[in-house]
Amino acid sequence: MPAPSWVARVALRDFRSYIDQAVEVGGGPVVVTGENGAGKTNLLEAISLLSPGRGLRGVAISELARSSGPATWAVAARVESGAKMPGSAVEIGTGTTATARERRQVRVNGANAAVTSLGDWLSVLWLTPAMDRLFIEGATGRRRFLDRLALALHPAHASHAARYEAAMRARNRLLGDDLPADPAWLAALERKMAEHGVAVAEARRDTVTALSARLACAPEGVFARARVKLDGWAEDALERALTAEVEDRFAAELARLRGADAAAGRATLGPHRSDLSVVHAGKEMPAERCSTGEQKALLLGLILAHAELVGERRGRAPVLLLDEVAAHLDAGRRDALFGRLVRMGAQVWMTGTDRSLFEGLEGRASFVAVEEGRLTEG
Ligand SMILES: Nc1ncnc2c1ncn2[C@@H]1O[C@H](COP(=O)(O)OP(=O)(O)OP(=O)(O)O)[C@@H](O)[C@H]1O
Ligand SMILES: [Mg+2]
Repeated sequence: MPAPSWVARVALRDFRSYIDQAVEVGGGPVVVTGENGAGKTNLLEAISLLSPGRGLRGVAISELARSSGPATWAVAARVESGAKMPGSAVEIGTGTTATARERRQVRVNGANAAVTSLGDWLSVLWLTPAMDRLFIEGATGRRRFLDRLALALHPAHASHAARYEAAMRARNRLLGDDLPADPAWLAALERKMAEHGVAVAEARRDTVTALSARLACAPEGVFARARVKLDGWAEDALERALTAEVEDRFAAELARLRGADAAAGRATLGPHRSDLSVVHAGKEMPAERCSTGEQKALLLGLILAHAELVGERRGRAPVLLLDEVAAHLDAGRRDALFGRLVRMGAQVWMTGTDRSLFEGLEGRASFVAVEEGRLTEG
């Protein structure tokens, strides 16, 4: 498994507010400054698209095109591998074409590649102001967050999740048909759901178990310490049975639930319904009942512990995108955060309106200014 790597150069064409810009940075902290509306979050969003999925805003792919541009967009990056060998850089490109504006294409070193294969080259995790409501809103957001954590440890996770979803959608369609569905075809789809769904559950379980162990021995530092727990049928079943047994049981359950699922119009059991529950360990308080600031601190503590875990297991921490995180911390916590990030050796993109917030990183970070749609280094 290749070590996770970092972005050495990123170029944007007709992406959101950018016409044609590029920037080169180092492998440590990267500070992005600019006034409100300058394009800081857009730059982070472009980097988030170097990993599988729809990026840090989770919007439709066609929305990413510059509104007064040609309606197609591209993000290209030179990714340095952790190997630090000459020639170890990889060129990754993603974007849309005039004939397919809703689906993004991916190229690795000039050759077409699957979107899910991006996880083989780069792990990217983020924290944005929109995630302030992660613990309060529905399980979908928490599941996405969890899957991103799992993907950083298990590069095949995105492809298992995609295959699971595809089989589930095909089964939903068959069950929704007016004509009776072919039982052999249904059984084949349920087998696929079982195989990939249990792989998804397994990666999540490994992630939460490893993260829990790390959090349990972490000192109660300046960031809140979380206790995390997975709630899901397959994840629970794996606690007591072997993978193959859980796959068989899941397939059998799906067969048993055909009638109920046809009536509901969707699959009522499976890892697409799992959830992550988080408790503030210091206060013995469920995250959703913590204050906004406490919830932010819990998420930050989780992301940092996870990044350190990935660093230990894979040789390099993932790329972190921390949008507007620094501004919400007092000076002491900010310094503690910078110190921890520098020790971790991670490439961490941080945004803020004011460079003075990042004084503690002068000489230790790359600085990028965003002004009038232009990116300037230094
Ligand atoms: N598809 C698009 N085409 C053109 N401009 C866009 C598109 N999507 C967003 N924008 C614009 O990009 C600008 C920069 O947005 P962005 O969210 O990156 O700002 P920001 O620097 O993060 O600001 P803040 O400090 O307020 O968070 C905004 O003015 C927004 O309206
Ligand atoms: Mg922003």
